[in-house]
Amino acid sequence: MKLSVIYDSRTGNTKRCAEWIAGGMSRVAGVEAKAFSTKDVDGAFVKESAGVVIGSPSYYALMTADMRTWLLEGAPKLSLGGKLGGAFATVQYTHGGGDLVIQSILTNLMTIGMLCYSGGGACGDPCIHLGPVAVNHNVEKACLEDFQDNFLIFGERFAKKAKELFG
Ligand SMILES: Cc1cc2nc3c(=O)[nH]c(=O)nc-3n(C[C@H](O)[C@H](O)[C@H](O)COP(=O)(O)O)c2cc1C
Repeated sequence: MKLSVIYDSRTGNTKRCAEWIAGGMSRVAGVEAKAFSTKDVDGAFVKESAGVVIGSPSYYALMTADMRTWLLEGAPKLSLGGKLGGAFATVQYTHGGGDLVIQSILTNLMTIGMLCYSGGGACGDPCIHLGPVAVNHNVEKACLEDFQDNFLIFGERFAKKAKELFG
């Protein structure tokens, strides 16, 4: 089963998180997972994917303009309706809008007919309610790597659910 992660990233944080999610997905037997920038999506691979996770940095507590444009213009060409969908975000500040970014991505995914999944509280600790958020190095002393396990676990949970539904 193929799974895709698609991200927008200017300085590399969101790209690294996307790769962690793909790594977590690949822990599940029979899953081939790949991460793509919105600027370099392998459309054939995504079309064959049972699930797609989308990620964006927080720009003023919303997804980036580039991600929004891609969701409006790129995503409709990829037959995403009916696939499993998920979302993640990176922020500079703990209260920098990560959940709002995720919520707005999930709203887009539901609008195009995807089935949205995060694991929520049903999977226990770590509770990832809407999707994983990573805070990069800042005055609060958080760094991206502090959140790596959450992204790996989210990817693994997402892949298990995709296999349960479509495997
Ligand atoms: C124009 C702009 C606006 C940003 N707005 C926010 C914000 O509202 N909240 C926040 O926590 N971080 C904000 N950031 C920081 C980025 O979200 C954060 O550094 C992110 O991890 C960058 O991702 P990237 O390395 O994948 O580009 C902003 C960065 C830029 C360039």
